[in-house]
Amino acid sequence: METTIDWEALARAATAARSGAYAPYSGFAVGAAVLTDQGVVVPGANVENAVYGLGICAERVAIASAVAQGAKRIQAVAVCTDVEPPARPCGPCLQVIAEFADDIPILLLSTQGMRQLSSARELLPQPFSLPKPS
Ligand code: THU
Repeated sequence: METTIDWEALARAATAARSGAYAPYSGFAVGAAVLTDQGVVVPGANVENAVYGLGICAERVAIASAVAQGAKRIQAVAVCTDVEPPARPCGPCLQVIAEFADDIPILLLSTQGMRQLSSARELLPQPFSLPKPS
């Protein structure tokens, strides 16, 4: 099911999700929200760990949650941080977005109100892909 993208709802969800961040090591809270192919907005926040490498980014938390709830594809992503210009998703998150979307829009937000609209291919022009065995 394709739906019109409600950017305000996505921006609100990413901004609200940021308050759920668990970031005691970096102090850098990130909120994300994805719009699924079913028209559902699913939030995520970064969750760090004392074993630093086990921390997981907000975007991947949101995508894993969406997929676990039945989403097959992602239509749009919003990411909220408190830096300007607003932070872009990291490379691994862009690769995970590529698993569930083609060139979708990605809205970058700061808590101070700055907004930048980018896209998956602008940020990661050539993602890795592997044919799925049939
Ligand atoms: N982080 C995200 O949540 N998303 C990104 O795309 C990049 C970075 C988190 C990971 C870590 O908890 C903190 O930001 C600092 O790197």
